[in-house]
Amino acid sequence: MSRHVIRPFEEADLPAAAGLLAERHQEHRKRHPLLPADYEDEQLALVEVTAAWETEGASGAVMVEGGEITGYLLAAPKQSPVWGPNIWVEAAGHAVREPEHIRDLYGAAAAKWVDDGRIAQYVLVPDDPALIDAWFRLAFGSQHAHAVRAVPDSPLLPPPDLVVRRAVRADIPVLAELDLELPRHQRLSPVFSSGELPTLEEAVADWEESIDDLDYATFVASYNGEVIGSSIGCSLDKSSAHNGLAKPDNAGFLGFAAVLPSARGLGAGRALGEAVLQWSAQTGYTSVVTDWRVTNLLSSRAWPRLGFQQTFHRLHRLIGH
Ligand SMILES: CC(C)(COP(=O)(O)OP(=O)(O)OC[C@H]1O[C@@H](n2cnc3c(N)ncnc32)[C@H](O)[C@@H]1OP(=O)(O)O)[C@@H](O)C(=O)NCCC(=O)NCCS
Repeated sequence: MSRHVIRPFEEADLPAAAGLLAERHQEHRKRHPLLPADYEDEQLALVEVTAAWETEGASGAVMVEGGEITGYLLAAPKQSPVWGPNIWVEAAGHAVREPEHIRDLYGAAAAKWVDDGRIAQYVLVPDDPALIDAWFRLAFGSQHAHAVRAVPDSPLLPPPDLVVRRAVRADIPVLAELDLELPRHQRLSPVFSSGELPTLEEAVADWEESIDDLDYATFVASYNGEVIGSSIGCSLDKSSAHNGLAKPDNAGFLGFAAVLPSARGLGAGRALGEAVLQWSAQTGYTSVVTDWRVTNLLSSRAWPRLGFQQTFHRLHRLIGH
């Protein structure tokens, strides 16, 4: 006889799920104290699980052992077409006492998702090796990294042959060119992203409108007098990709960086990333967040070298073959 029962998630399960989520987050913060402390509190964890449950189209399952809820899984679709016919398990969408049990919960909940045609599946998983391993054995693979580091406590200087400065209006043509480099790179193997590639004219028009926006700090790096790269820092509040338990308090955001292909590997990426770290420290942020496609062979190597530590893994599974 099975020791546990799995049944559909119900509204009455929210407090128990919040307790499990708070426990998971307490463990997670032992490794990453920069993650927000609030959600170690069950009442605040409840706000996040309730939001996951109340998202349109949400469904999931709970595990009950000896009358106690020991695991839950909740997911909902995102409207944006970039994710395909999708279902998402957000950071607050799962917590289990025993990592292996996420496989039972998925087994129960995913039948409806696939029946509904939701074959592109995404889940944000804390960097807990046992939990990641259990998701891997559900045929999920790593797609995207969320990462954080503390702001630097002393000034960082670029190498002597590079000049890093704030961008000015006269930089717009090269800033627009650099904007295209990220989607261009990510369309190639092994990222194969389907992200939109704007035209140069669209990128120029965007910069004409936004160059004076004080919410964004744009830096350029030049080598032998030529601008070869750019980076952008802003408040993490500007990013829709970092929420709830995955959103450190009072954080800056390294939102963009690119170096022209011919100038990569000279240290400009490091200098531009460090300019955003420095700006974040001066602005009064405690930490800096960034994220990257793990299949991007350049950013996935550059950002950890700058001290970013991965907190969450976005895993992805495409059903059908
Ligand atoms: C990511 C990018 C901005 C980095 O810029 P760059 O000028 O090439 O990077 P740098 O030369 O400063 O190198 C950065 C760090 O990564 C390390 N690195 C680079 N390639 C590496 C490799 N193959 N293996 C291990 N480390 C590597 C460098 O050694 C350096 O660390 P160090 O300073 O401690 O030695 C640039 O490659 C780029 O424009 N890529 C395409 C667009 C993109 O992916 N943007 C990031 C968006 S998330």
